[in-house]
Amino acid sequence: MQKLQQQTIQTTEIATAKTHTITDKKQIAPQITQIDVIAPDIATKAKAGQFAILKVHENSERIPLTLVTWNNKNGTITLIFQEVGFSTKELGKLNIGDAILNIAGPLGKPSEIKGYGKVAVVCGGVGTAAAYPIAKALKETGNTVISVVGARNQELLVLEPEMQAVSNEFYITTDDGSKGHKGFVSDVLKTLIDKNYGFDAVYAIGPPIMMKVIADVTRPYKIKTIVSLNPIMVDGMGMCGACRVTVGGQTKFACVDGPEFDAHQVDFKELIQRLKSYVTEEKSALQTHRHEGGKCRCQNQ
Ligand code: FAD
Ligand code: FES
Ligand code: MG
Repeated sequence: MQKLQQQTIQTTEIATAKTHTITDKKQIAPQITQIDVIAPDIATKAKAGQFAILKVHENSERIPLTLVTWNNKNGTITLIFQEVGFSTKELGKLNIGDAILNIAGPLGKPSEIKGYGKVAVVCGGVGTAAAYPIAKALKETGNTVISVVGARNQELLVLEPEMQAVSNEFYITTDDGSKGHKGFVSDVLKTLIDKNYGFDAVYAIGPPIMMKVIADVTRPYKIKTIVSLNPIMVDGMGMCGACRVTVGGQTKFACVDGPEFDAHQVDFKELIQRLKSYVTEEKSALQTHRHEGGKCRCQNQ
């Protein structure tokens, strides 16, 4: 794991620490943090492709995050998050020894891991965190895994050695060419397809626009393509409707029907539109975060 900054506070023994305590924290890229958290109920049940929803404090928003790894023996789960707004910055303020208020999970349907044959795992940015457990499970099941990992620049590449370790072939792309192929993950995938790699399936996980482009690349070749969708989620249990997506003309709730769907059936335009629904409120919340020095308003009451 790439470590830009490692916190070394050793406050508690894992065995005696209270549930949801952070036992490890590393900054793995600018604005991207990896934490290990005590959550034995989730660690014993988690499967690749699933996620958790957490609340930092009593008045916090709920944050959906993918389960990256889990450890049955010590009951911890690993989460990787990018600080993009108020709530992820609030989570980033917690340190080793601090406890997250609550974490619900594992949520969502697990990935369908089976012997496809040759599988391309294509991922971008923090989406690599979600792709890693799937690539690992596919490799352990005997598939030939060809990974294409992308980021805007070299600094933003995450889980590079981990992805390489679970891949038969491994490619890197950066938008600015600072590492690997200069360009997009979709360019490399298209090149591999045109070289007759004969993929039996493609997993694509990253920003919605990237997943849409991958779907457009594989559609003419009729390659089974699976994407993991990240619509706004609130309850994560199929009751609020926030995560509504249209797949094959039908309404699906990504939290319970997904998050993985057939990429060729997803209405990406609607997904991208709905993800922008609250940008005004999100910007204003971020301003508040800056003015209050990252302190949650609930702590002022
Ligand atoms: P805000 O400023 O509130 O929002 C920034 C943008 O994030 C919004 O414009 C919107 O597009 C999106 N967003 C906001 N709230 C939510 C929400 N409740 N659910 C989904 N998207 C939201 N991010 C990671 O960094 N690592 C992960 O492993 C990861 N896994 C995810 C798994 C799932 C199933 C889903 C649905 C999302 C996942 N995300 C992950 C995205 C993460 O949940 C959002 O970035 C986070 O909730 C943003 O909160 P914020 O208050 O910091 O940002
Ligand atoms: Fe509420 Fe999916 S998050 S229905
Ligand atoms: Mg928010």
